[in-house]
Amino acid sequence: MNDHRIDVSLGDRSYPVLVGHGVAKRIDEFVPTGAKRAVVITDPAIPFTVTTSLPSLVLPIAGGEDHKNLSTIEALCREFARFGLTRSDVVIAVGGGLVTDVAGFAASVWHRGTAVIHVPTTLLGMVDAAIGGKTAVNVPEGKNLVGAFWQPRAVLADLVALDTLPQRELRCGLGEIAKYHFIAGDDLLAVPLDARIARCAEIKARIVEGDERESGQRALLNYGHTLAHALESAGHHDLAHGEAVAVGLLYAAELARSLGRIDDARVALHHRVVRDEYGLATDEQLASASSNGVETLLDYMRRDKKATDGLTFVLDGQRGLEVVPGVDEATVKVALESFFARGVGR
Ligand SMILES: NC(=O)c1ccc[n+]([C@@H]2O[C@H](COP(=O)([O-])OP(=O)(O)OC[C@H]3O[C@@H](n4cnc5c(N)ncnc54)[C@H](O)[C@@H]3O)[C@@H](O)[C@H]2O)c1
Ligand SMILES: [Zn+2]
Repeated sequence: MNDHRIDVSLGDRSYPVLVGHGVAKRIDEFVPTGAKRAVVITDPAIPFTVTTSLPSLVLPIAGGEDHKNLSTIEALCREFARFGLTRSDVVIAVGGGLVTDVAGFAASVWHRGTAVIHVPTTLLGMVDAAIGGKTAVNVPEGKNLVGAFWQPRAVLADLVALDTLPQRELRCGLGEIAKYHFIAGDDLLAVPLDARIARCAEIKARIVEGDERESGQRALLNYGHTLAHALESAGHHDLAHGEAVAVGLLYAAELARSLGRIDDARVALHHRVVRDEYGLATDEQLASASSNGVETLLDYMRRDKKATDGLTFVLDGQRGLEVVPGVDEATVKVALESFFARGVGR
């Protein structure tokens, strides 16, 4: 099968995203000329490995958001120093979004910026986290609050890694893929999964090219995320991120209809993609979402870090998706009540 190649064009920070079986074996092609050493950062629980022809040090980092913090960054940098990693060497991240975020941030600060290559091993990493140069770690006060924009040299999305990915992690990626159906408006269902992953990577690449530092359009990537973040916080992570995004997409459609932005057919399309195609937002998950209570969810949405101007949603409409700030709270509430009351109703 042919590999897919998508170029992210950002002037001297441009790089390719390769999608295909076995693409991680091509890593040496993307190592910067002059690099003499490589550090490979990975989560030992991931049964996918990458080797380069450079002398390499493998640094394991523990999985779980609790370890996505500044202590991990310090520990990594101290290992870099002992290994003698210089600014002309390379960091290679092999893992899900957690590993690419941590390794990307460590690379961004090591000697004020050292090359990093991302090898995403989750579906979510392939279509989202590894592309676009956002890196971050958490502090106890909030997720992803300390970070940097640091574009990778290449992203190698090797589909072989997906063979071992647990179902729940696969669903997380599908939640994000469902989101891309509405961002670009083309029929992603018409193509096989590898082409679909490549198309999602391409959609993300085009958005990042237009708005590298998220001052506008890049926020469209948060479609379905306003309610999703509230569900994740309120429900103490009963729903995984992608599962919460799927519920958030259906609610965003409901809200857009209440505001007269879209019609019933467009809402039905959301249900067809999210529920029928990807098997997300199941009755059980909607019941779990609803059990948080409308008032609690509203409270969390008010605290969303993007809520600088009242409640902000990405909403579908005549011109496609748009960021809509200051959505009337009463409308949000009534739409949420009817969304939960009707459950699976279209
Ligand atoms: N930088 C961005 O633009 C961006 C975008 C979205 C999400 N993120 C971040 O990404 C993180 C979530 O990423 P994720 O969903 O990839 O989860 P993850 O990196 O936490 O990985 C999920 C689980 O899957 C396991 N795993 C990974 N690859 C595997 C494989 N091939 N086989 C078997 N198991 C495997 C991991 O060990 C882990 O337990 C969050 O920290 C989030 O903040 C960043
Ligand atoms: Zn997301």
